[in-house]
Amino acid sequence: MMPFNNLGFVFKHFGSIIYSKPILEDLCLFLQDFSDKESVLDIGAGTGVMSEFAYRCNDRLKFVAVDPAEGMLKYAPPYLETHIGAAEALPFEDSSFDAVFMGESLHHFDDIDAALNEVLRVLKEGGKLFIYDFDRGTFLGKCVCFMERVFGEPANFYEPAVLKEELESYGFSVTVMKHGWRYTVSASL
Ligand SMILES: C[S@@+](CC[C@H](N)C(=O)[O-])C[C@H]1O[C@@H](n2cnc3c(N)ncnc32)[C@H](O)[C@@H]1O
Repeated sequence: MMPFNNLGFVFKHFGSIIYSKPILEDLCLFLQDFSDKESVLDIGAGTGVMSEFAYRCNDRLKFVAVDPAEGMLKYAPPYLETHIGAAEALPFEDSSFDAVFMGESLHHFDDIDAALNEVLRVLKEGGKLFIYDFDRGTFLGKCVCFMERVFGEPANFYEPAVLKEELESYGFSVTVMKHGWRYTVSASL
């Protein structure tokens, strides 16, 4: 397993390097119709890199983060409410959030079906989901997948078309944007 509990400093200072400009543009586009105080949950938030980018797009939202690694969460910015927990058993009431983010975290979840059922549970009616991850159908995506397996991670990487189908089976309408070896998904219920 990757020792995320000890990697907070690294992600705080270097985590944003993995986010390219088109990814951030997709994120701002995803957030453009949100009104003040709508709540977003960053699952596998780590130090909160994705929420920090989202805050630059819209600083009036309520930002909440969940991650099993306290050593990552302790580097989160002050506007991010942090909770220790796993995607497969979210520590929140039903229908708590207007949107969910997953930034490079989906592939770390042990049980994707359990995590997606939890997303459905905590999202409000008409809720939205934004995912950023690496495409296992590309050369670089395969390299990252191989490296993560070496570290004993689940490495549940998807090809975007397969993830789209999977999310549609959960009732989401899905738009995929490909950016070389990376992609984003904007989905809504
Ligand atoms: C590569 S880091 C990404 C962190 C952050 N989202 C970012 O973009 O920098 C993956 C994160 O997923 C978290 N993680 C691993 N397993 C998880 C699970 N089952 N549920 C939720 N988060 C998990 C790790 O602790 C780690 O913080």
